[in-house]
Amino acid sequence: MTFPQRRLRRLRRTPALRRLVAETTLTVDDLVAPLFVREGITEPQPIESLPGVVQHSQDSLFDELDELVRLGVPAVILFGIPLKKDPEGSEAWNPEGVVQVALRRVKERYGDQLVVMADLCVDEYTSHGHCGIVDDSGSVDNDATLELYRRAAVAQARAGADVVAPSGMMDGQVAAIRDALDAEGFVDTPILAYAAKYASSFYGPFRDAVDVTIADGGDRKGYQQDFRNRREAAAEIDLDLAEGADMIMVKPALSYLDVIADAQATVDVPIAAYHVSGEYAMLKAAAANGWIDGDLAAMEILTSIKRAGADFILTYLAREVAARLSE
Ligand code: PBG
Repeated sequence: MTFPQRRLRRLRRTPALRRLVAETTLTVDDLVAPLFVREGITEPQPIESLPGVVQHSQDSLFDELDELVRLGVPAVILFGIPLKKDPEGSEAWNPEGVVQVALRRVKERYGDQLVVMADLCVDEYTSHGHCGIVDDSGSVDNDATLELYRRAAVAQARAGADVVAPSGMMDGQVAAIRDALDAEGFVDTPILAYAAKYASSFYGPFRDAVDVTIADGGDRKGYQQDFRNRREAAAEIDLDLAEGADMIMVKPALSYLDVIADAQATVDVPIAAYHVSGEYAMLKAAAANGWIDGDLAAMEILTSIKRAGADFILTYLAREVAARLSE
C-alpha cells in the first residue's frame, strides 16, 4: 500500500460534498451595512470613490433601509455629515444633529427589527477633522476629548441607538462612555469598541464620503495604531474589555487577518471586523476594469474575514452580498 495521495481531493469532488465539509459559511446574519446620512440634502449624493454608496437624505435613508430589512440584513451603522462643523464637533451631541435625528426616525419606523449602531466619534463634526480636541501643540488632547465622547454617547443612546461604537482611539474612551451611559440610565446600551484600529491609508474614500480633510496635512498616527504592530492590538483589546466593552472590532480587515485570528483565539466576546472603504474601492475598481470577478472576489474576501475569526463584518458590500445570498 502506498500512502493515499488522493485523500484530500476526494472530498472536493462535487459541489454538494464541498458544501457539506465547508468550515466557514458566510450568511446574511454576518453583515452590517455602514450608511451615511447628510444634513440639508433632499436627494442622495453619489460618492465617486465608493461606487454604489451614497450620502443619504433623511428620506432616502428609509429606501435603503427598507431594502436591507427586506434582505434580512440584521444591522446598520450610521455616520453623519453635518452642515456645521466647529473645533469641538458639537453637532455630534446636538439632539437635533443629523445622526440623532436619523436614529429617532429609524427606530420609530423599524423598532427592534433592525440593530441600529452609531459610530461614536467627532471627526465628521470637527472643523479640523481630528477625532477630538486639538491642543496648542497640535496634538489631540486625550482626556479633554473623553468629555465630548461622553456627551455624544448619551445623545446617541437617547435618540435610540441600539449600540454605540466608539472609533476615536482615545485611551480610556470605553470606560468614560460606559460611565456616562450608566449615569443616564442607559445600562442596556452595549458598546462595540473599535479596539484595534490602525492608522490606515484604506480610509481615504470614507473621508470623501464624510467630507473630512485633516487640517494642515495631518494624520491620525498619534492616536490610531501603527500597522507594524500586532501584539499591541492585544493590549488595546484587553484594555477595552477591562473598561467594559461588550464587543470588539478590528479595523481594517483584510490586511489585519492575523489580528482578527489572534483575537479569536483569546477573546470571549463577539468580534467585529470592518472591511473599510479603501478595501471596497480597490475591489470595485479592479472589477470595473474587468481584472477580477467582483462578485466572486467579494464572497472570497468576506468569507476569509469570517474564517480568520470575525463574528460579523461591517462592509459596504452588505446589500449586494445579501441580495446574492438570498438568490
Ligand atoms: C472615524 C471613522 C473612520 C472610519 C470609521 N470611523 C475614519 C478614520 O478613522 O479616519 C473609516 C471607515 C472606512 O474607511 O470605511 N469616525
